[in-house]
Amino acid sequence: MDALPVMIRPATEADCPRINAIYNFYVHTSPATFDLVEMTENWRRDWFEQRQRAGLPVLVAEVAGQVAGWCALSPWSPKPAYATTVDESIYIDEQFRGKGLGRQLLAAILEEARANGRDVVMAVIVACQEPSLALHRSLGFEQTGLNRHMGYKLGEWHDVAYLQRHLWRDR
Ligand SMILES: CC(C)(COP(=O)(O)OP(=O)(O)OC[C@H]1O[C@@H](n2cnc3c(N)ncnc32)[C@H](O)[C@@H]1OP(=O)(O)O)[C@@H](O)C(=O)NCCC(=O)NCCS
Repeated sequence: MDALPVMIRPATEADCPRINAIYNFYVHTSPATFDLVEMTENWRRDWFEQRQRAGLPVLVAEVAGQVAGWCALSPWSPKPAYATTVDESIYIDEQFRGKGLGRQLLAAILEEARANGRDVVMAVIVACQEPSLALHRSLGFEQTGLNRHMGYKLGEWHDVAYLQRHLWRDR
């Protein structure tokens, strides 16, 4: 199969509605996020501006002029000793899953994290999401924890895995 022509680029404010729509699909259909109600577009703009101010990357994957997925870094904690530890999130439009976008976005955000002097990238992944676990492991994340019975969504309790990518070890 030919690879999709994908452009990975920093998000702009104009991408916020697509970023939000991609996310909200999973709010309704998947335990991948523990949100239970949709995020509004205003909330998403604030989310984007906070990351711009903090120098935290938000990347999108664009296919034929349409945003088909996104990946972002968030602060792990406001406590200052955690300053170089970040939390990563990634969501691909359902129609574009399994076509290599997730791998390209995650690799690109790890490069951004490295360039921004981050030491640890965390990924908090609901334990039943095998595609996400496999993607993260394949790019060097190690699972360091599994917390049982952490959230109830779509009629089931879910365990949550904690994974870390140790950028400091690459230096
Ligand atoms: C998980 C997700 C980000 C992966 O992105 P993607 O674009 O679908 O994945 P890719 O096509 O880039 O595949 C990358 C790797 O992911 C894994 N993967 C992808 N789909 C998979 C599947 N159905 N089953 C098992 N592993 C899978 C494989 O390791 C794959 O590598 P390979 O192609 O060399 O085997 C995407 O499917 C998604 O958005 N899922 C729903 C939301 C979600 O779970 N987000 C993560 C929250 S932490």
